[in-house]
Amino acid sequence: MATFVMQSLGCEVAALNTVHFSNHTGYRQFKGTRATAQEISDLYQGLCQSNLTDFDVMLSGYAPSAAAVESVGTIGIDLQEKADKKPGSFFWVLDPVMGDQGRLYVNDDVVPAYKKIIPFADLILPNQFEAETLSGIKITSLATLASAVTAIHRMYSVPHVIITSVQLFKLSQSGSTPPPPENFLTVIGSTTRSDGSPRLFRIDIPALDCFFSGTGDMFAALTVARLSEAVSAVEGLRTTKSWVSPDDVAATDLPLASATVKVLSSMHSILERTLESRDAELAVTVPALDGEASAEELQKRDYLRRTKAAEVRLVR
Ligand code: ATP
Ligand code: MG
Ligand code: NA
Ligand code: MG
Repeated sequence: MATFVMQSLGCEVAALNTVHFSNHTGYRQFKGTRATAQEISDLYQGLCQSNLTDFDVMLSGYAPSAAAVESVGTIGIDLQEKADKKPGSFFWVLDPVMGDQGRLYVNDDVVPAYKKIIPFADLILPNQFEAETLSGIKITSLATLASAVTAIHRMYSVPHVIITSVQLFKLSQSGSTPPPPENFLTVIGSTTRSDGSPRLFRIDIPALDCFFSGTGDMFAALTVARLSEAVSAVEGLRTTKSWVSPDDVAATDLPLASATVKVLSSMHSILERTLESRDAELAVTVPALDGEASAEELQKRDYLRRTKAAEVRLVR
């Protein structure tokens, strides 16, 4: 997903797969293998020995174990160190993939592994649950949402944070900003000012009535592509490469926010079309039951339900 999205928007991508699966694990049945920490390190060593590490940006996503997270971290830290000689020339977007909807889907030891490497990242993309896990603050209101973002900046000295979705209408109302209506998702972004205080932005988007797998990866990849464009568009801030330091970014007209608007607009049109094709396909593949169904037919329906979407409306 991430590679395809970035390539579609003109990025030249060197992909290092941390898993090699037949399909997204969200569909519950899959085949394939997970890369070991050693395999991840070996591939990076291979890039190093052939001088293939001149990257503008690194996007890291799901890693299948704490040791694999550590290997990914070692790569990010090494690339940051190499770039130290040319300030602003490298940017690490880290998606701390740990869980969703109130539960972890990785081993417990993956959490401390992420906490160790996040201080070396430039932008992190937690969902609501991951933001709570990293900040230690349960998000129950706009006030605790702001505290969680502030805590993440402070605890991990990470300059940019985007919380990729919060169900704000579920939170208790506080402060002067009204929550969006029901069935909206809220994206919260923040960049630290030079005095360390966060500069927040908020974007409300209509939630589609469907569960999608892979949206986090698509969001991350679009963010890399759009942020790169947004930053290159800012005249006078270009260093040897297209990335600028956090202070430069804060001083401009919030490139993080304008990039996020573009990201969400792409997300929405793709997800709307995904929903339409799901409905079209289900109309063909899940015909209405006509009298008694055989055990085999029921099993097929169950499979289709699980693989096509979490919520399936049978079409008559
Ligand atoms: P994943 O569960 O794939 O790891 P994530 O939990 O990291 O993803 P989310 O915050 O769930 O990330 O989703 C990322 C983006 O996907 C959201 O900002 C939103 O734009 C889009 N998205 C996900 N689900 C929906 C939905 N049901 N309706 C509309 N947009 C959605
Ligand atoms: Mg999610
Ligand atoms: Na996310
Ligand atoms: Mg995610």
